[in-house]
Amino acid sequence: MPYTEWEHSSYATTDAKSCQQCHMPRTNGVRLSNGSMTTEVMEPRDNFAIHEFVGANRLMLDIFNNNKTQLGVLSSNFAETLTKTQAMLNSAATLSNVKQCLGSNNVLNFTLKVDSKTGHKLPSAYPSRRVVLHVAVKDETGAIVFESGKINSDGSIVGVAADSDRTKFEPHYNVIKRPDQVQVYEAIMGDNQNQVTYTLLRGMTYLKDNRILPLGFDKTTAPNDVKVVGSALTDKNFIGGSDSVSYQIKGLTGNNYIVEAELVHQPLAYSFANDLFQEPDDEVADFKTMFNASSAKSSQIALTSFSVVKKGDWEM
Ligand code: HEC
Repeated sequence: MPYTEWEHSSYATTDAKSCQQCHMPRTNGVRLSNGSMTTEVMEPRDNFAIHEFVGANRLMLDIFNNNKTQLGVLSSNFAETLTKTQAMLNSAATLSNVKQCLGSNNVLNFTLKVDSKTGHKLPSAYPSRRVVLHVAVKDETGAIVFESGKINSDGSIVGVAADSDRTKFEPHYNVIKRPDQVQVYEAIMGDNQNQVTYTLLRGMTYLKDNRILPLGFDKTTAPNDVKVVGSALTDKNFIGGSDSVSYQIKGLTGNNYIVEAELVHQPLAYSFANDLFQEPDDEVADFKTMFNASSAKSSQIALTSFSVVKKGDWEM
């Protein structure tokens, strides 16, 4: 599907960028083997695409790195690959605030905008991945007065319906007013009875797919396999290359607040992992131990913070 998503984006046409251009860094002066046993030396080649293919999955790299003996892993350069994967994630999207206002009615309004730099949907590929918008509002003393999308150390996210009840999931939001409303960019699979499933072979449809669209992706003409599903379809600012989410927080009587927002990637959503953990199987139990011990369950893609000062009504 990343290919079909890419094909429907402007990276396939006007903003031409191939899979290789993003996924295979270039280098100069590489001597290639000519495959024969002769002593002939080939000319060094410039603009050579390194076969490196880093993606977004820091979690599995971290698990391999920390359990080499148990898993029979021989490679020893995980630290380098983890760093490159983090850099790939940091290149995936940017986060900014496009509007902010704290009125004399004690309502704090702000709008966050996610701009995709990814050549397909973000998060891409296997549906266990999710990207969450974590937002915290702090008062002058640094105390948190509002938080949506807080991530626990076990990988679960406060307020995300799927993490407390595997039959449910968070809808796509255009406006967020409460801490239990969390913007999660994800694909939720449905089985033949339109019930949530985390088993790939039972997946027949998507009940939700609001993954962030690549530049130029027209959701109204998207092929069925990569269509947008759920209220993101009718969200006017959920478009090719970006999404904006507005926050309206009531009852803030102070004069100064700081908003901190981050976009976080999880290769294996807690709900997905938790579904797997229900299997009575030794390998699943081993994986659970490794998953719980990993500090790479969540990785930051982008971060923004800004302060808001109360204005008189005439300034609104
Ligand atoms: C404009 C840059 C760009 C282009 C073009 C691009 N990608 Fe990606 N790709 C990314 C970024 C950034 C990520 C990490 C974020 C994510 O998982 O979506 C990624 C992740 C992936 C992943 C997921 C890896 C993982 O660990 O989950 C796959 C698979 C993938 N790309 C395949 C492709 C294919 C196939 C193409 C061409 C059809 C392609 N990409 C084109 C930037 C790009």
